[in-house]
Amino acid sequence: MGIIEKNNYGLVGKNISYSFSESYFEEKFKKLGLEGYSYRNFDLSQIEEFTPLIQENKHIKGLNVTIPYKEAVIPYLDRLNKKAKKIGAVNTIKFTKKGLKGYNTDIYGFKKSIKPFLTKNHTKALILGTGGASKAVAFVFGELGIKFKFVSRRPKKNQLLYTDLNEKIMKEYTVLVNCTPLGTFPNIEEKPNIPYQWITDAHLLFDLIYNPEKSAFLREGENQGAAICNGLRMLELQAEKAWKIWNS
Ligand SMILES: NC(=O)c1ccc[n+]([C@@H]2O[C@H](COP(=O)([O-])OP(=O)(O)OC[C@H]3O[C@@H](n4cnc5c(N)ncnc54)[C@H](OP(=O)(O)O)[C@@H]3O)[C@@H](O)[C@H]2O)c1
Repeated sequence: MGIIEKNNYGLVGKNISYSFSESYFEEKFKKLGLEGYSYRNFDLSQIEEFTPLIQENKHIKGLNVTIPYKEAVIPYLDRLNKKAKKIGAVNTIKFTKKGLKGYNTDIYGFKKSIKPFLTKNHTKALILGTGGASKAVAFVFGELGIKFKFVSRRPKKNQLLYTDLNEKIMKEYTVLVNCTPLGTFPNIEEKPNIPYQWITDAHLLFDLIYNPEKSAFLREGENQGAAICNGLRMLELQAEKAWKIWNS
């Protein structure tokens, strides 16, 4: 007879067959010798499918949440931890006796992965894109005392348009973070439309994308002499933090 799986985990999102998390956690369960543990993708075509999902899967202990439900899932939760509440995005859910509690571990992952690259000259940052991940990035810059501006195709108050990025701004803002999906496999030649010619060795370019390892955005930065970092470590760190939360 097979092992009865009593410790179920999974990822909620849309079109997530590419997911890193499933193989990452399955590998982890193997390494730790955990029997009766499983991690699977729950591909929802709309967030309303969330309630039947948890009613039908009684052994779920924890979930990760990805695009496009990091914000939409919040009304389905009983509680939020402080940081998730502040930024309004959840990527980790813990099933507790008191109900479902939402967390955001992108904050932890981004902070820990960018920190080793920051120097005292990195005092201002441009955040490219204004989606769910950009909120975690902005939160971390707030914690680190780094001033930031969002760059958007449709800027709101105090945000910049891509065409606003002139030489002066590019010299002043030496940390550039790509929080758009531009450059993700298979569209690997795409990149944010910024004036790369003004990037120097004083800059740090961080891309949340991890596939490909070196995006067109990072390649441009590297060619200009900038320090670069992709999103792989961030991804691993946020997964590790989720695992800790589920087991605390
Ligand atoms: N490494 C990690 O651990 C990690 C964690 C989270 C997310 N990510 C990655 O980070 C990226 C963003 O995630 P997200 O959840 O924030 O996605 P999202 O909510 O879809 O937001 C992406 C933002 O990018 C901008 N954008 C989208 N399409 C664009 C285009 N064609 N041209 C220019 N800008 C565009 C938009 O901002 P405007 O409308 O304001 O221009 C949009 O709000 C994804 O690639 C995701 O895989 C990585």
